[in-house]
Amino acid sequence: MKDHTRNKTVLLTGGAGFIGSHTATVLLDRGYDVVLLDNFSNSKRDVPTRIEKITGKPCPCEEADLLHSGEAEAAFKKHDIGSVIHFAGLKAVGESVEKPLEYYENNLLSTINLLGSMRTAGVKNLIFSSSATVYKHDNPVPYYENFPLGAANPYGWTKVMIERIIMDTAATDFTFSAALLRYFNPIGAHQSGLIGEDPQGIPNNLLPYIAKVATGELPEVRIFGDNYDTPDGTGVRDYIHIMDLAEGHLLAMEYLRKKRSHEGDFIDIGESASGAAHEGANVHAFNLGTGKGTSVREIISAFERACGRELPKSVYPRRAGDLAIVYANTDLAERELGFKARLGIDEMCADAWRWQRHCAKLPE
Ligand code: NAD
Ligand code: UFG
Repeated sequence: MKDHTRNKTVLLTGGAGFIGSHTATVLLDRGYDVVLLDNFSNSKRDVPTRIEKITGKPCPCEEADLLHSGEAEAAFKKHDIGSVIHFAGLKAVGESVEKPLEYYENNLLSTINLLGSMRTAGVKNLIFSSSATVYKHDNPVPYYENFPLGAANPYGWTKVMIERIIMDTAATDFTFSAALLRYFNPIGAHQSGLIGEDPQGIPNNLLPYIAKVATGELPEVRIFGDNYDTPDGTGVRDYIHIMDLAEGHLLAMEYLRKKRSHEGDFIDIGESASGAAHEGANVHAFNLGTGKGTSVREIISAFERACGRELPKSVYPRRAGDLAIVYANTDLAERELGFKARLGIDEMCADAWRWQRHCAKLPE
């Protein structure tokens, strides 16, 4: 079967979403062609046009639902795809507890359909959006890729299960390769202010919540617990700028491509993902974070510097299920991919604020 790995077009499932849209700008800027595939269940239809405005390059988009296998297959027939980055999925932790079947159905079935379409089309490179949430909660920090996996909610379990499905699939075809990118806490926005994170309703995550307090749409920042065993008592996370995270996808894709000596052959199987189902499967897990922890209070202060004023805030009880400290060990991504996050929390907050002003139609 023809191997399409060296073709330049990259299919981004869920490409109109937060992480997919930023990754599309990085790929286009580096000379790759992209095709987005999205059902717009959690994104806006004008995102491809905005990406075109930022990059000056065409950004075709297929409106399709990965739950319908025929729609994924049609995209592979229409475009000459070399690699796939699979962002599509539902991602709200709380909602996944309320609607577990919807989460298992959407996230697992869409991945199974995608893998089937890739097999039919002979596409052999896959980058998957995994999460720091795949690490068992009793692991010490920093988290290493070979730590035990487990999850605390249905959303997290879909990530653990999809990693496994990808590993088992790769074990049946050693010319298939995949990177499992375990994101820590992506925040910020493209420096243009034209794309960013735009959650529907009241945000669950800290940064979008703070941003809406800054625009006056929400009354105060709620600090969920200030009695954790951390330097200032508030929760610590590994926040990573969305543009650094986007760069990690490019590096992971090029890493998988470099592993081929010539069409269809691998020269080096490298390290297997933690808990790899089968020796020799070309599946590689990488943490994408900064390796540094930042507290809730530190993030609020950084946002106050960005928006130029103090924000109303109060301490609330701890949120159920939250851990005190989560951050990554990033040595593997640095060594194997050449990945190093460059932007700090001040840039993350300044870029998020520029985007939020755009969304709220405030003067920029
Ligand atoms: P997002 O919701 O902004 O983007 C996901 C996109 O997938 C949306 O545009 C949505 O419309 C689309 N989609 C969902 N189901 C689909 C389907 N069946 N068919 C076609 N399109 C579908 O989310 P994001 O923040 O960009 O996250 C991208 C991926 O990264 C997700 O898989 C998420 O679980 C994972 N992730 C995100 C974070 C985070 O903090 N944002 C952290 C870890 C992992
Ligand atoms: N927090 C607040 N107030 C808020 C929201 C959050 O104090 O209004 C605190 C939390 O307690 C936590 C920190 O801010 O200490 C970060 O919380 P987020 O909700 O922003 O992020 P989480 O680390 O809980 O989870 C996020 C995604 C998950 C993903 C995980 C990966 O929501 O899907 O990062 O590390 F799996």
